[in-house]
Amino acid sequence: MREDVEAWGEKQQQEIEILQKNEAYRKEFLQNLAHEFKTPIFAIQGYVDTLLGGAIEDETVSRKFLEKAAKNTTRLVNLVSDLDEISRLESGEQLLYKQPFIIQDLILESFDSLTIKTQAKNIQGSIKKGCETPITVFADKEKIKQVLLNLIENASKYGKIDGQIIASVYRTDEHHVLVEISDDGIGIEEEHLPRIFERFYRTDAARSRDKGGTGLGLAICKHIVEAHGETIHVRSTPDVGTTIGFTLPTKRD
Ligand SMILES: Nc1ncnc2c1ncn2[C@@H]1O[C@H](COP(=O)(O)OP(=O)(O)OP(=O)(O)O)[C@@H](O)[C@H]1O
Ligand SMILES: [Mg+2]
Repeated sequence: MREDVEAWGEKQQQEIEILQKNEAYRKEFLQNLAHEFKTPIFAIQGYVDTLLGGAIEDETVSRKFLEKAAKNTTRLVNLVSDLDEISRLESGEQLLYKQPFIIQDLILESFDSLTIKTQAKNIQGSIKKGCETPITVFADKEKIKQVLLNLIENASKYGKIDGQIIASVYRTDEHHVLVEISDDGIGIEEEHLPRIFERFYRTDAARSRDKGGTGLGLAICKHIVEAHGETIHVRSTPDVGTTIGFTLPTKRD
């Protein structure tokens, strides 16, 4: 009898702890959200007020201020569409449209879409030697492209000038491949590794460099990969580089 009561008490305590954690998480989430919105909104407000206050009469100044206001507007739009994407993925209402495609082709296409960003830092993107033999995967092509774009964008954003991004593809067993995107950039301190897939989580290095991100990219990647029933993981060494890998099915399930 006493054991039963104690077991019950312990279970209640555990449930309370879970609820408290969720509550803390919700608060942190709202704080982050408010913070992410505040920065561009205050910037836009500042530029518009200054224009209305007279700066509009000066053509060069007014053009510059309008460009800055437009840039911050784009940032807000991106933020809202990322949040929208994440909430649709989380609610599970987003369906996957799976089809067979060659993963190496999608990787090359993703490198191509980001050449403006990689060329700006003279970073070379390529597929690792020995990984070129085409492998057909069975997945949602559009969504996997988004994963690849987010990973390659990070690799270049947190990569060194004149650096390299290398994609590798390995068959792990009869039904799976492992896709890895590696860079030789700033890397991630070990203490941050368990948290980088959380919404809004950014390392101090990323914040201080102000690369203009919101910390939603990897959270979206994780959702997409897990929606396929697969996994995503990270290995990183500060000042050496980062590798993010995820698995994909090769066969219709
Ligand atoms: N390749 C990488 N090298 C070093 N740090 C990385 C790398 N990829 C991610 N990170 C770290 O993990 C954090 C989370 O990445 P994530 O892509 O979610 O956010 P972000 O790039 O900061 O912003 P967003 O993707 O929303 O524009 C980054 O802020 C950065 O600190
Ligand atoms: Mg990112």
